[in-house]
Amino acid sequence: MTELSNLQFDAQHLWHPYSSVQNPPLLHEVVSAKGVYLTLADGRQIIDGMSSWWSAIHGYGHPRLNAAAKDQLDKMSHVMFGGLTHDPAVSLARRLIDITDDALQYVFLADSGSVSVEVAIKMAIQYWFAQGKTDKQKLLSLRSGYHGDTFGAMAVCDPVNGMHSQFAKVLPQHLFAAAPTCRDDDDWKDSDIAEMRTLIKANHDQLAAVIVEPMVQGAGGMRFYCARYLRELRTLCDQHNVLLIFDEIATGFGRTGHLFAYEAAAVVPDILCLGKALTGGYMTLAATLCQTRVAQGISADGQGVLMHGPTFMGNPLACRVACESIDVLIESDWQQQVLSIESQLTDELHGLTSHPSVKEVRVKGAIGVVELNQSLDGLMDWLPGFIVDQGVWIRPFRSMIYVMPPYIISTEQLTLLTNAIKAIVDKIEDSGKS
Ligand SMILES: Cc1ncc(COP(=O)(O)O)c(C=O)c1O
Repeated sequence: MTELSNLQFDAQHLWHPYSSVQNPPLLHEVVSAKGVYLTLADGRQIIDGMSSWWSAIHGYGHPRLNAAAKDQLDKMSHVMFGGLTHDPAVSLARRLIDITDDALQYVFLADSGSVSVEVAIKMAIQYWFAQGKTDKQKLLSLRSGYHGDTFGAMAVCDPVNGMHSQFAKVLPQHLFAAAPTCRDDDDWKDSDIAEMRTLIKANHDQLAAVIVEPMVQGAGGMRFYCARYLRELRTLCDQHNVLLIFDEIATGFGRTGHLFAYEAAAVVPDILCLGKALTGGYMTLAATLCQTRVAQGISADGQGVLMHGPTFMGNPLACRVACESIDVLIESDWQQQVLSIESQLTDELHGLTSHPSVKEVRVKGAIGVVELNQSLDGLMDWLPGFIVDQGVWIRPFRSMIYVMPPYIISTEQLTLLTNAIKAIVDKIEDSGKS
């Protein structure tokens, strides 16, 4: 019997994100990656416009990250974190405390973004529980939000697009407020926060925390909103004794032009979730940081413990690479890189605003979004192939073609990416006519 090729075996046996085994997704096999390029099994090199879902900010195969990983492998790739500690974890915590706001002093190392959200939710509920406020177990989040795929995280994702219907009987029931519509502080409208205010006032006795993605709602709709919203939200949470969780799993580490998006609003959360770019996209690792009052509050009388402790917590290999990734970022001219990407994306995508298939073009930091008038879901039998034929890797979702390239992308490479987006939009327009 002839052996199945990787693509054939994959189609018969492997799940991919949000995929059907009866109608397996069109796939491209990657054999290696370097800089901004992915090399496919057929030899083609394509520019990664996605940074592997926000994570590979320095591109692939960075010599310093590679060296750190190899060095750490020779020392130890893993050791349990219960009862033991190690320099990679301590060094990472030092760095995270150093680069985030002074108020954030405690770090919980988690396995993935979703798990860091689970931990944030536990922190908030346990904090109030330890103060005797055992009714404060609900969360309040925004419509169009996305916080991950595990049950706790899923329960605070957008209730319509966030997979709630299939799991309705097992998902915790939380509260949702309208997503803000103000793009910048100049067009602030009080109505933007009205529902949030009403819900906080009416439910504060049961609310442990509000959780939002600051400034940019990512996978739930690629929506950008204004800093004032976060300032108003911080005030409301303080007035009504509700904790504030910022999920910066996508926005953290410079993507929006600030090292952390909360800096744009000068608002500090009680709890902060980080992930994705934490290891420069090398491996899975996330962190949940919190303020001293939250950490000390959970311990209350000295008896309370935070109820989480995964097997691979504080994995030394991941922590060591994360330390190196943070150093590479901080030592680089990342602000300038992100600013340049922002202005080039703005210039080169602007022309699409008047395209008949395009609803809106928006750019923030190193994020570019072209929202179309139609959903692209029905085009996925040919669209991924067409995109790769343009020499790029972009993965549209719903009605959006969006890019968040590695910060190291050159001007020429970024132009190839924006030209590809234009070709994709034209092709979609043509396909609608035929
Ligand atoms: C804002 C946000 N939170 C949480 C997550 C979940 O992270 P992970 O996929 O690492 O579990 C994501 C992933 O896209 C995200 O964008």
